[in-house]
Amino acid sequence: MSETHIEIENVNAYYNGNHALKNISVKIPKKQITAIIGPSGCGKSTLLKCMNRLIDLTDGVTYSGKILIDNEDIFDRKTDIVDVRKKMGLLAQKPIPLPMSIYENIAFGPKIHGLKKKPGLDAIVEKYLKLVGLWEEVKDRLNSPASQLSLGQQQRLCLARGLAVEPEIILCDEPTSALDPVSSQHIEQQLLKLKNDYTIVIVTHNIHQAMRLADYVIHLYLGELVEHGDAKEVFENPKEERTRAYINGTFQTEPKIDKELNLKGNVCPYNFVLAKQALHEIGAGKILKLIVDDPLAVIEVPRGIEADGHDIISVKQLNKKDWEILIRKKE
Ligand SMILES: Nc1ncnc2c1ncn2[C@@H]1O[C@H](COP(=O)(O)OP(=O)(O)OP(=O)(O)O)[C@@H](O)[C@H]1O
Ligand SMILES: [Mg+2]
Repeated sequence: MSETHIEIENVNAYYNGNHALKNISVKIPKKQITAIIGPSGCGKSTLLKCMNRLIDLTDGVTYSGKILIDNEDIFDRKTDIVDVRKKMGLLAQKPIPLPMSIYENIAFGPKIHGLKKKPGLDAIVEKYLKLVGLWEEVKDRLNSPASQLSLGQQQRLCLARGLAVEPEIILCDEPTSALDPVSSQHIEQQLLKLKNDYTIVIVTHNIHQAMRLADYVIHLYLGELVEHGDAKEVFENPKEERTRAYINGTFQTEPKIDKELNLKGNVCPYNFVLAKQALHEIGAGKILKLIVDDPLAVIEVPRGIEADGHDIISVKQLNKKDWEILIRKKE
C-alpha cells in the first residue's frame, strides 16, 4: 500500500446514544481513490463527516478516537477546524452553486483567502474550470448565473469551486447519484484524473462505480468496518462473506435467468438499444442475462440500464473478451 494520508484510529460516533460508527480503524492512502461502500444507514456519510469535522454541526452527536491527517489529529481540541476544512474539498450529492455567476463561484474562495487582483483570479478561474473539463462549455458565458448550467455542469462547477481553494483531499458523498449517466461519467473521468494530485475519498452505494474508480475499498456494515484493502483484491476475492454478499447484490445464490441475449459483435449504443428491447419483453422482477464483447458496453450498458431504474445484479468477466451482465427488470 502506498503512503498513508489519513489515519483513522478507533473512531466511535453516536447520535443520541445510537452507535453509528463502531471502533473504526483504517488508513487511507495518499493520491489514490478510496471508496467507502455499504448499505444505506451503515455509517458511510458519518465517517466522511468525521473526516472534515462537519459532524460537529449535528445535534446530539458524540464522537471519540483519532483522525490523523499529516500527523495532526483533527479531533484534537487544539486543532484549528478552519485549517482542517481548508485541506478538504467536499463534493456533495447534489450540486449547490452559489447564487452568483460562473466566474464568481470559482473566484469566491480564493477571494476570501486574500486574492484580490483580477488577473490572478482570471487565471485561477480558467485553471480550475479546465481541470474539471468545463472550460470549453462555459468560457463564453462566465458572467451568466451558475444556476443556468445543467445539473451535470453544476456538479463540475462545484468540484472546481472546491479545488480552487487548493485542498489536499477531496471528499465526495455520492457525487453522481443525482446526475444522468453522461454527467456521471464526466465526474468519474475528472476524479480519475485528479487522483494524480489529490487524495480522494468517495462514498458510493453504486458498486459498479466503486469498481470503476477505486484503488482502495472500505466496506462498512451497521457501523462496523467489515473489510478494507486493495480494491482489486476486495472485489475479486473478498475475505469476508458479508462483503461477497454485498458485492453480489441481493442474490447470494445464482439467480434464475428468464431471458438470455447474446450481444457479441454489437457495439454501443446499439447493444444498449437491444438490451432495452429485451427488457421490454420480460415481466417486472424477471432476470435478463446479456453477453457483450464491446469493452465500452461493460461500462455504458449497466450505466444506462441503471439510469432507467432497473437493477444491475452483476457484471462478470467470462473470458478475455466476453462479459456477462445480469439485470433485474424494475418492479
Ligand atoms: N443527524 C442524525 N441524527 C440521528 N441519527 C442519525 C443522523 N445522521 C445519521 N444517523 C443515523 O446513523 C446511522 C448512519 O447514518 P449515515 O448517514 O452515516 O449512513 P449512510 O451509510 O451514509 O447511509 P445512506 O447510504 O443512506 O446515505 C444511521 O442509522 C442513521 O439513521
Ligand atoms: Mg449517506
